[in-house]
Amino acid sequence: MTTITVHASREYNVDVGKGLLAGLGSKARSLCPRAGTVMLVTDSRVDALYGRTAEENLAAAGFRVERFTFPAGEASKNTRTYLELIDRMALAHMTRTDLCVALGGGVTGDLTGFAAATYLRGIPFLQVPTTVLAMVDASVGGKTAVDLEAGKNLLGAFWQPVGVLCDTSLLSTLPEEIFGDGCAEILKYALIGDPELYEDLRAPFRDDPERIIARCVQDKRDVVEEDERDTGRRQLLNYGHTFGHAIEKCSDYTVSHGSAVAIGMCMAARAAAAFGLCPGDVPEKTAERVRALGLPDRTAYSARELALAAMSDKKRAGDRISLVIPDRMCHVGLHPVPAEELEDWFTKGL
Ligand code: GLY
Repeated sequence: MTTITVHASREYNVDVGKGLLAGLGSKARSLCPRAGTVMLVTDSRVDALYGRTAEENLAAAGFRVERFTFPAGEASKNTRTYLELIDRMALAHMTRTDLCVALGGGVTGDLTGFAAATYLRGIPFLQVPTTVLAMVDASVGGKTAVDLEAGKNLLGAFWQPVGVLCDTSLLSTLPEEIFGDGCAEILKYALIGDPELYEDLRAPFRDDPERIIARCVQDKRDVVEEDERDTGRRQLLNYGHTFGHAIEKCSDYTVSHGSAVAIGMCMAARAAAAFGLCPGDVPEKTAERVRALGLPDRTAYSARELALAAMSDKKRAGDRISLVIPDRMCHVGLHPVPAEELEDWFTKGL
């Protein structure tokens, strides 16, 4: 097992290793010795696979366990599910010393974290991510949110978990395409500032992902410790995301987040090279590694369609959009672009 300590507004450990779900109850007990009730939150898919095991394990550690399950998918990450969860917490008379456990992917972690952040003005929550994407990104760093009609993650809070348990054995039941989706976020860490990880990704890692996942968590930890509230360096984690969110939006979210981010990173690299802001070999080196991970490097949407979609992105600051672009291989920076020039960036990125 590898343990990474995050020193943010709350200090906590991220444990990465095989079979950690078996220690969930004792971990929760050591983190929250006074807790009586645990609200175990899962989606329908994860609940069928691991819900009962997790519940029994928590009960064996002396907790009264309430199980809240919602239909799997991003569509559930809304205010209705959030209020249903909050109601269940209130009906269970949960107090500030009780605990929420998020067992699942990014949707589960974001939803549970936001409920924990807001119920009684904040109660502890423990992240138990079950997807690659949630292990390397969503479960670490304390961003919690639900979606509104007007856009994704518009209602949220920074609320750090009391701990993160990344049981890599849970990835064995992950469908190939969801595993691949998470690989886009792994490659993102390499491309924004970890050349060693970029080299490591030459070899397949699905059978033994602990080292790669722990490495990404360390990379994320370093960023979060420097910029927990997302005012500077943390924005670099959005590499490929402005382009990617536009693709997701144009496709009405039928293109997965990982695929969209993979294409987005390739587009950012192509545009940066076309504007002479990075060496000419960066786009192909990026696309070659994207394709090697089984991810797409191009989209069929037009620059106009993508620019219109991107204009509604919440990361706009006034009439400028902050793009993350490479200045060399495995190194990126922030590049504010006037909104009216965005379409040109998309054209070059295509
Ligand atoms: N997922 C990007 C961040 O945590 O800042």
